[in-house]
Amino acid sequence: MSTTAALPKPLGLLAELTHRCPLGCPYCSNPIALDPRASELDTETWAQVFAEATALGVLQVHLSGGEPAARRDLVAITAAAHGVGLYTNLITSAVGVTAATLRRLAEAGLDHVQISIQDSERAAADHIAGYEGAFARKRALAAEVVGLKIPLTVNAVMHRANIDRIEEMVALALALGASRVEIAHVQYYGWAVKNRAALMPSAAQVARAAALVEELRARHHGRIVIDAVVPDYYARLPKPCVGGWGRRSLNVTPAGKVLPCHAAESIPGLEFWSVREHSLADIWTNSPAFNAFRGTAWMQEPCRTCPRREIDFGGCRCQAFALTGDARATDPVCHLSPRHEDVAALAAVQEDAPYVYRRL
Ligand code: SF4
Ligand code: FES
Repeated sequence: MSTTAALPKPLGLLAELTHRCPLGCPYCSNPIALDPRASELDTETWAQVFAEATALGVLQVHLSGGEPAARRDLVAITAAAHGVGLYTNLITSAVGVTAATLRRLAEAGLDHVQISIQDSERAAADHIAGYEGAFARKRALAAEVVGLKIPLTVNAVMHRANIDRIEEMVALALALGASRVEIAHVQYYGWAVKNRAALMPSAAQVARAAALVEELRARHHGRIVIDAVVPDYYARLPKPCVGGWGRRSLNVTPAGKVLPCHAAESIPGLEFWSVREHSLADIWTNSPAFNAFRGTAWMQEPCRTCPRREIDFGGCRCQAFALTGDARATDPVCHLSPRHEDVAALAAVQEDAPYVYRRL
């Protein structure tokens, strides 16, 4: 694939404004090697990226991090995205976003806020975040968001220590005034691999959680949308990660590298291009990393001849690499993968070891 005409249009842009973050979550999805502050793109370059994204067909931008509020120019960045017509979603830990900043963000055109919540109980939430007082700040910011009538999504990250409190997490999201709650199970790439045994839920917990989510969806129908999927290590079929490599979205790192997914740097040997040297359209169409796993020609068996190959695209490339050492392999989450039993064996390793926190 080499022409824009032959390619699908990206719909979403994940703008990782910074890797700086006050929290220390043991399941951090940022890469092992973080971009230092000095390498971060400036306001004008982000504005140029947003303009190029709009021209490429992108409809929404997720302003993320790290903690995006660590950027002093977050309001100007938001205004730039809004100014070119992008739907703007702020993905925040809530730590560092004051009520005054939120009001200025709303005036700049912020359309949506997503707050991550670590648990329904203060002590447990602050423990996993590695930040005393984080839970109270999240509650306070959620109230400000709802007060400004900005739609709110709660992102509830689930693991062994809190998966038995899904009902309480959904109740908390309702009490906070969220219109949507994502039951997001920890994904084990990058930093989270270090804490896999400490975070992995049991099969019995996952089964109970799946049944409870169905019940909660019925109970709260029309009041809140509950998004949830079976966690990877307990699934029989993989997720179509990022909607298929290079098909739906792009991800710009704090320093300006453009990735097909947030964890793509965990795959060695891929060549990423930067917005400092190339236009977003050029990167989307021609960069080696985006073309590495586009389409189906790169696939091995059993994906190559599988009827689902254009439904799930062989699963997640980062997970395939993390679990097999081969990014072209079938994601071992798939029951048709010859390595599927390895996933079950890893899921069975559960140890109550202390968390290895993510610190800058
Ligand atoms: Fe998906 Fe490949 Fe499994 Fe088929 S074999 S279901 S394409 S991961
Ligand atoms: Fe990279 Fe799934 S996280 S392809």
